[in-house]
Amino acid sequence: MNEQIDWKHLPFGYYPTDYNVRCTFKDGKWGEIEVTSSDKIELHMAATCLHYGQELFEGLKAFRGSDGKVRIFRMKDNAERVRSSARGILMEPIPEDLFCRMCEMVVKLNERFIPPYGSGASLYIRPLEIGLSPSIGVKAAKEYMFIVMVTPVGPYFKTGFGCTDICIMRDYDRVAPRGTGRFKIGGNYAASLVASEHAHEMGFSAVLFLDPKEKKYLDECGPANFFAIIDGKYVTPKSDSILPSITNRALMTLARDMGIEVEERHIAVEELERASEAGACGTAAVISPVGKVKDIDTGKEYVIARDGKPGPICTKLYNALSDIRLGDAPDNHDWNTILDI
Ligand code: PLP
Ligand code: COI
Repeated sequence: MNEQIDWKHLPFGYYPTDYNVRCTFKDGKWGEIEVTSSDKIELHMAATCLHYGQELFEGLKAFRGSDGKVRIFRMKDNAERVRSSARGILMEPIPEDLFCRMCEMVVKLNERFIPPYGSGASLYIRPLEIGLSPSIGVKAAKEYMFIVMVTPVGPYFKTGFGCTDICIMRDYDRVAPRGTGRFKIGGNYAASLVASEHAHEMGFSAVLFLDPKEKKYLDECGPANFFAIIDGKYVTPKSDSILPSITNRALMTLARDMGIEVEERHIAVEELERASEAGACGTAAVISPVGKVKDIDTGKEYVIARDGKPGPICTKLYNALSDIRLGDAPDNHDWNTILDI
């Protein structure tokens, strides 16, 4: 059945699975969960998701553990964030319980696509919501569809847990200072595409965006948060224009558990001089250790990983996070939902 899947070399891409689950908000209430094997959606051509960007999504992962059990990592946190994103662009927030039931259901239905323990891969869960109602006037839809699809994935950055180089550019902003950066909505990603493409053309894997107001402080790194180890502390940007990363929050907790001081604060670009390690972190990125940060405008290059290898704190954090998600270490913070399959 799955013999053709090369689990160890899966890219971060779309691999078709058997089912997805859907639920529609209509007449002021959410309906029943529908299971389908179709990967198509029928839409009105004037739907608000097509014209006015009423689209949001989430990303979380399920893992097969060494004990054979399947765990979804921090699902309730994604449920909370998806509701915040919905409120951010006047969409209908999905109830937490419905969100969790849909995620669990779609993972169970596609159990054969959960990568085996030890493969380094996982089952990526991608919930999304769209505004369905036709509207030519700029206003929120009355009807919404929530879909949860899954796809088995490998590492987001090609280097996996190897160092990757990123760059700073001041010509592009991903979001506005008091805009939608803290919500996980499609428009933010559309707004990042030109900058990302430019960075890729110059040989960098991502853009380290600066704060859009003053362009003095580090914000986030493409589709991931950013952290650095400075003077032995885990330092990560405090900013209203970044997505509150669930992975970053987990890493902050794990760092504190290890006795590492954590600072959430503005980080001036020049502080990169003092960083002994740095990483991009997120569900897709996990931790992608940063090798160098090139400031394209000033020409300055901040070499972070002098030997080109992930540093000791990044490595310890990465292993601690992996062990919890795979059931190899106790889940002291109650982050995993274990499925009854
Ligand atoms: N920042 C952006 C822009 C993202 O797209 C993501 C991915 O979800 C993250 C940060 C990391 O967030 P999380 O750790 O919750 O996946
Ligand atoms: C995630 O980490 O889940 C993301 O959503 C990143 C992504 C846009 C690929």
